[in-house]
This record gives sequence, structure tokens and C-alpha cells, in this order.
Amino acid sequence: MKIARDFLVLGSGLAGLTFALKVAKYGSVALITKDALEESATRYAQGGIASVMAEDDSVDLHVSDTIEAGRGLCQEDVVRCIIREGPAQIRELIQLGAQFTRTGSKDFHLTREGGHSKRRILHADDLTGWEIERTLIAAVRNQPNIDIYTFHMGIDIITRSNLDPKISPGGPGDEAVGLYVLDEATGEVITFVGKVVLLATGGAGKVYLYTSNPDTATGDGVALAYRSGAKIANMEFFQFHPTCLYHPQAKSFLISEAMRGEGGLLRLKNGDTFMENYHPLGCLAPRDVVARAIDHEMKKSGDDCVYLDVTHMEGYRIRERFPNIYKTCQSFGFDMTQQPLPVVPAAHYMCGGVMVDLNGQTNIPRLFASGETCYSGLHGANRLASNSLLEGLVLSHRAAAKAIGLLQLTPGLSALQEIIPEWDSGSAVESDESVVVSHNWDEIRRLMWNYVGIVRSNKRLYRARRRIAMLLEEIKEYYWSFNLTKDTLELRNIAITAQLIIHGALERQESRGLHFTLDFPDPDNKGPVKNTVLQDDTQRLITSKPAEQFKNDRA
Ligand code: SIN
Repeated sequence: MKIARDFLVLGSGLAGLTFALKVAKYGSVALITKDALEESATRYAQGGIASVMAEDDSVDLHVSDTIEAGRGLCQEDVVRCIIREGPAQIRELIQLGAQFTRTGSKDFHLTREGGHSKRRILHADDLTGWEIERTLIAAVRNQPNIDIYTFHMGIDIITRSNLDPKISPGGPGDEAVGLYVLDEATGEVITFVGKVVLLATGGAGKVYLYTSNPDTATGDGVALAYRSGAKIANMEFFQFHPTCLYHPQAKSFLISEAMRGEGGLLRLKNGDTFMENYHPLGCLAPRDVVARAIDHEMKKSGDDCVYLDVTHMEGYRIRERFPNIYKTCQSFGFDMTQQPLPVVPAAHYMCGGVMVDLNGQTNIPRLFASGETCYSGLHGANRLASNSLLEGLVLSHRAAAKAIGLLQLTPGLSALQEIIPEWDSGSAVESDESVVVSHNWDEIRRLMWNYVGIVRSNKRLYRARRRIAMLLEEIKEYYWSFNLTKDTLELRNIAITAQLIIHGALERQESRGLHFTLDFPDPDNKGPVKNTVLQDDTQRLITSKPAEQFKNDRA
């Protein structure tokens, strides 16, 4: 089956929904998502959205906090633009119906998080992401130009280079013209034809054993883009949130940084505080510092966790300010008004991603990316808390404006439809060995946690690289032999994402921000700080990378 729409949007978090809403006034939209419409990382965002809203704050201050957290890798023009344009986009969200917590009838309650020199985080209690997601979904459902395809998973981007062997992936003449998509209910592969493709599939926390992310975070956008020849940047910078609930059934439930913003303290088992030994901002130091400090203290003491103490706050204030966290912790047997919470770091945010310019445009014309899927230059080597929703909002707005402008310059959809072939599943049959998928999935997540976590070394990274190359071979064989399922596609995507994180980490022979390696414990400040850019411009299917493309790769 072929379906043609002007705009194809993959992903239904803040970035995908914002883009879809804005372009729908100018053309038809297919909004494609592999789960229920509301299931995205956005809906789980607790802390909030950082923006300059207070009188004692300024764009310059927010810019300098972001750049300070980003450890020399932020792109200043991008930082400035996103921060400057943020308030207007937030006002649009409010006009659409988003309700952020206020102190009285007029003023917003602004909270503080690590690395921010001012209170500037707008929030809706501790369910900010859900409030935004709810608002955008209501608006999208009201827009007749948007067709929604839930439980449909993107397989591959269709590009000119797929259709013409003379065009190399990501090279001159290449452009995005569609998507192959698996209908999870029927197993059918649908050919979506479009003039513009936006990747907004969120992050890749599921690449690690412990993560605050939902199950959908399998690096889909990055893997699809990489296979198409798009440039992928700075994947070595994976942010670990310092405080996730330590409980076997809690699935690394996030304990918002806003709790430390309201005075919460990190303590060891014996009650001692320790963050003052690591950073002048103590518990409100940037995340890379706090996560590493906790990791260090846990290794030193042999304890399984540290503790977050908010018992200084009055009980009713905790219940009012953090109702969702309070209720969830209570369901696991912890009353945070009376006792410190056991917490551990867990994988939280992919700071690298598909490389885009300030309009969300990748190096492949008509292929855009926004939100956690992309690397715009805002986050650098370490994302400042609550800057991500802001980035998705502004970048999707800018990408929409650019994409609308491209509509007129594109051949008609029927011309494209004629030249794009339907998916060919070859001689694939039903799998009788699904255990391979669950086993490999598990192995990747464990090896990433053990060898490519908060503290790295060359030895661990080489070991991880060898294992992932073997797993990729196995996955490739499985992929071509058996009918596609969501699980197979996700496995292939996390394996590719893991490989990109490992290669990025091996390329960066220094410690900077979220990438810390025992072999190069200091930042290399001898020359300009470089981005790690990986591009697979030679092949469209999964492979391990030819060694010569990684010049510093000394296995
Ligand atoms: C949090 O609430 O701590 C998460 C906010 C973020 O990751 O930006």
C-alpha cells in the first residue's frame, strides 16, 4: 500500500506534534508513531521547561548557564537563538491551553534546577511534560489535515539514493522522499511518500540497562538517519540523571532535579552530605558533575545507592509541589516527607543526535530532525536541565517554517509515488527463534551499562566495540531472514545507536562534560573543541564501520 502526504512526521512527542500542527495549515500531514499517540518521553518530563520569564533574569544569563554546562561544545549562535525565541513559543503553548503552575492569579511559579543561576523553570506541578503533551494532542486531533497512524513503526527513510545507484547516500542529489513503515497490527509494510520527512522519535535510553526513559526510547531516528547517510554528532555525550528511585520494581522512576532546586540534599547512608566536596554549587551542580560524584561515592562505599533528603520541607508543601512523585514513591513504600529516598543515576538524555542546522535541516535535503533525536548545538557536551523541551519547541517551529517554504519547490506527490517502489520482503519467513531478539537486546543493554557508562576507559570501550560488531552481524542475518516485527526493528536500532555511542566515545580522546574516560581524564584544550561526526555514506544497511573511517580508532 502507498500513502502520499506532503509532510511525514515520525514521532508524537512535543517536537513531532509541534511541527505537525504548524505545517498542517499548509499541506497534508501523516503523523506516524510506533505506540499510542501520547506515549513519548515528553509525557514523562517532570521538571519543566527553562525560559527567561522573570524580571531579574535575562537571555544573556540563560545563554551563559547553558554554555557553562555544555563545557565548550555549545554553538553560541544556536544557544542564543533558541533561548531568545523560547518565550514566544511558550506563549503559543499557553494560548493553546497549557496550564503552568502559578504563584497567584498572574505570575508563574518558576523553579530552579542544576546549573541554572536563576529560577527560570516553568512547570505544571511535577507533570509538566504531560500537560504539554495533552495540550498538543488536543490541538492535533482538531486539525483535519493531520492523519494519525499509531502503532506504526518507521523502518527506513526512502531517499533518492535508494532509487538511483548513481547517487550516494547523503551525497549531491540525494534527498528524502518517503518512509517505509511497519503496521504493527497487520505486519504489512506501508510506503509513505512525502515531500518532507521529520524525525522526532526522541532518545535512546533503552540502550542502557537502567534508564528513566520510556520503552519507546530506542534510538530509532538516529539509526534511520545514519542508515540514510545523515551526519550524526556527539553521541558519546549521554546524560545520566543523578536521581532515579532505587527500587527493584520502580523501573528507574525519575526523582526530579527540581527537588534539589527546592533545597533537597544528597546524603550518604550515614547521613553525611558530600556534594560540597565536588562543586561550589553543591547539590545544584550541573548533572555531569552530580552523576559522577554519586557514582564515585557508591564505588567508594560499596553501597547500592545514595539518598535524597527533602524532609526539611513541610509535608503539605511536598505533597502540593510534587504530587506525582510523592504518590509514586508512596506506592513503593517510601514516605518522602519522613525519610530520605534511595536514589541512583540512570541513563536519561541523548545529548548527541542527527546533526541539524538552526532550521532542523539535516545534511540530506528535505530530511529534518528535532527534539532529542537531533543535535543542534544547544546542549554541547552536557545538557542544562529543562533546556530540552525548549529546544524541541523552538526548533520544530523553525523547521516547520523552512519545510513550508520547500513545498512549492517539490515535484508533485503523484510523480514521487510513481518512482518509489513498494517494500520487498524477499524470502523472509516467520521467525521460530524470537529468543535471539530478547537475548541480544539484553546483552546490548548490559554491555553498554558496564562498559560505556558514567566512567569509561579504552579497554572497556574496545571490549564493547568488539561485542557490538558481533551482535550487529547476528542481527543483520536475523533481520534479512525473518519477517519484520517491532522488536526486530528496535533491536537493530538500539544496536546501531550503541555502536555510534561507542565509536563517538573512542573518537573523543579527552574527558569533557558527560564523556569521562580514565585514559584521558582531562579536557583537551589545545585547539578548538571538535564535534564527533559519524556518517555512513557508503551503505544503506547495517554493518560495522570499516576501520579506516575511524582514524583514531586503535583497536
Ligand atoms: C528533572 O525533572 O529532573 C528532569 C528535567 C530534565 O531532564 O531536563
